[in-house]
Amino acid sequence: MRVVCLPGDGVGPEVMRVARHALKALAPELELEERPFGAAAIRAVGDPLPEETLAACCRADAVLKGPIGDPEFDGAPVRPEQGLLRLRAELDVYANLRPAVHGAVDLLIVRELVGGLYFGASGVREDGTAFDTCEYTPAQVERVARRAFELARLRRRHVTSVDKANVLETSRLWRRVVNEVACDYDDVVLEHMLVDNAAMQIASSPERFDVIVTENMFGDILSDLAAAMTGGLGLAPSASLGDAGAGLFEPVHGSAPDIAGRGVVNPAAMLRSTALLLEHGLGRTADARKLEEAVDAALTAAPTRDLGGDATTEAFGAAVLAAC
Ligand code: NAD
Ligand code: IPM
Ligand code: MN
Repeated sequence: MRVVCLPGDGVGPEVMRVARHALKALAPELELEERPFGAAAIRAVGDPLPEETLAACCRADAVLKGPIGDPEFDGAPVRPEQGLLRLRAELDVYANLRPAVHGAVDLLIVRELVGGLYFGASGVREDGTAFDTCEYTPAQVERVARRAFELARLRRRHVTSVDKANVLETSRLWRRVVNEVACDYDDVVLEHMLVDNAAMQIASSPERFDVIVTENMFGDILSDLAAAMTGGLGLAPSASLGDAGAGLFEPVHGSAPDIAGRGVVNPAAMLRSTALLLEHGLGRTADARKLEEAVDAALTAAPTRDLGGDATTEAFGAAVLAAC
């Protein structure tokens, strides 16, 4: 089994180091292959997703990715984020699972990841007008909706489909297709919710949600909100899955340039993403549970600054290894 590791930018290499130690401890026979990606790869070869990196990801059993992004490239023509969108599209990992769990809250956002506003025609016209286009095909909606219903069957059998059907044509398509898919899952309760109301309800009563399925950009925004309701971005993992081939596992948070290089970033989101990799990417459920429990133990034993403690990234990593 081979896992390709993409450390990324900012705090990326710091959280990747901890994740690699955990993988080595739990699954010493795994082959870990590190490749450049993001701003680091732009600096090295002028491309955020070099061809060799992409080829390695396509050959891998799973891809573990640190956050990318660097203020240096924010206005540049070639940006780290372009490499991330291309990687997601090339792997066709259309279902992005973003769990948020804490106390009575146990929700799972299933975010469509390879369509919508991020992938439609965009540009700047001669008169200075900028545009981005949101498009969805029925097939794109159907496959992610089906995934959400399947996942709901393993949970509390409740799906909230989030859209903006009172305004957007793509959302009316979304709602129609989700209703059609729901006919195959009469053991699962479906509700529709407009995205503005969904944001309010996640903030005021997050425990009412089980599975939330939504399009790409709504899922991006709502998943940071769900993370904030359950302990913060330092804790929020994700798994991006297709129908075949390697899955992509990465934290919800970004490269956190404001704290990078100081040894204080919380590696829990990255470690929980590593646990999702063990479970969904490699089928090693027992190892995944072990790592999740070790992270939970470290959250009590060695909380990092974002959680009100003073443990360094390294100390948190050591607490995880001690509990593995
Ligand atoms: P961010 O998620 O990097 O940071 C937001 C805030 O949360 C910051 O104050 C940061 O210090 C804090 N934070 C984030 N992760 C943390 C952790 N693990 N431990 C402790 N504190 C943590 O969002 P941003 O500042 O808006 O974006 C920075 C860069 O990251 C941008 O270039 C953006 O494009 C990129 N980004 C990348 C990904 C990704 O690779 N998947 C995701 C989000 C943002
Ligand atoms: C995320 C990030 C990315 C996204 C950016 C960096 C392209 O915010 O993974 O949540 O919007 O998908
Ligand atoms: Mn995001």
